[in-house]
Amino acid sequence: MADLLLGQVLSFHSDPFHDGPTAAHHERHGAVLIDSGLITDTGPAETLRIKHPQARITDYGQSLISAGFIDAHVHYPQTAIIASWGKRLIDWLADYTFPEEMRFFDPAYATEIANRYMDLALAHGTTSMCSYATIHPTSVDAFFAAAQSRNLRAYCGKTCMDRNAPPALRDSPQSAYDDSKALLTKWHGQNRLSYVITPRFSPTSTPEQLAALGALWHEYPDCLMQTHLSEQTDEIAWVQDLFPQSRDYLDTYEAQGLLREGAVFGHAIHLRPRERDRLREAGASLVHCPTSNTFIGSGLFDMALAQTLRVGLATDTGGGSSFSMLRTMAAAYEVAQLRGQALHPAQLWWLATAGSARALHAEHEIGNIAKGMEADLTILDLASTPAIAQATRRATDIWQAIFPTIMLGDDRAIKAVWINGKPKREVVRFI
Ligand code: GUN
Ligand code: ZN
Repeated sequence: MADLLLGQVLSFHSDPFHDGPTAAHHERHGAVLIDSGLITDTGPAETLRIKHPQARITDYGQSLISAGFIDAHVHYPQTAIIASWGKRLIDWLADYTFPEEMRFFDPAYATEIANRYMDLALAHGTTSMCSYATIHPTSVDAFFAAAQSRNLRAYCGKTCMDRNAPPALRDSPQSAYDDSKALLTKWHGQNRLSYVITPRFSPTSTPEQLAALGALWHEYPDCLMQTHLSEQTDEIAWVQDLFPQSRDYLDTYEAQGLLREGAVFGHAIHLRPRERDRLREAGASLVHCPTSNTFIGSGLFDMALAQTLRVGLATDTGGGSSFSMLRTMAAAYEVAQLRGQALHPAQLWWLATAGSARALHAEHEIGNIAKGMEADLTILDLASTPAIAQATRRATDIWQAIFPTIMLGDDRAIKAVWINGKPKREVVRFI
């Protein structure tokens, strides 16, 4: 039986970085029809009620029906070390991240954290995510099993490292290739799951390992490839020492066949002009991780890049300091303000939904409310706390009504999520 969801409906018919706020469409008394996992109609509530009299109605009143949030760059194995104090990137990796990632040799621990991460993500209204695992193949199995049991569209890859990491976290060019290929063959295209070829970053991969993964990507061109790029200045100096022949950081990937459409680079803050040009020419995607960039002290992403590149938004859990894409939108707003750019709420919302989908080349499946899209929806209470409620009381348009939730909202704003056309009744509350 078809489901008809009623509420305020927010969707996009184009990119607000090109067209401004008019790229968004707001239906104050709107409806979304869902059948067999897909959105089959959307429009004014009264029209859809008449057109679809048999549909089962769920009335969300004044709440906002949006495409589910898409977190385009997370490290699910870092769930338990989120909010670790006092370090910058290289020391943070050595002191917090690598010891935690070592624990994932144990499949039971990987399964526990994968499930904990998924429950937290859903509680925050995130319905799709693109994650790094650890070097252990079972950490990828744990992630995909947890996503599959919840019917999520989800992305993940084995994080490959063959140097500058503790011995227990090192693979080799050959084993990285073999393990990645076996996991890709096992999971890619199963249900709503996609394998992502994942060298961690150039400091922890030899040129031989990057080349092996470049060769694998050449064999499986429809996969995405994700890695980190130009996050901190110390990291960039380190890359220069490790790759003296390279023109710049991006060139360490480009030289090994790891730059083209489908490449998804996290952070990309301190880019040189040549890197910007090549990223644009190649059609690569960037992922902005603003809470991470302030928390680890990395720098301020240049949102002007969204004019010409696919740019998504992400928490970067656990370098990022929140599981919430609302908090992440707020941080994106603040970071842009520090660069003299005022992002419109339509642009922030787009980044967390359609923009992230586009960065992951999934814009025809997820990230928007339109006929034929997969029915992953997040329903938000726009007055979820007293502080937000009093600020929205004076709102005269949808953006004034939404912006306090962007700036002050958290998991209490998430009223419900629908995954693949089904309500997720028990969004786990961690209280
Ligand atoms: N660069 C390489 N690995 C990582 C990681 O795990 N988190 C962040 N923020 N940056 C990285
Ligand atoms: Zn990362």
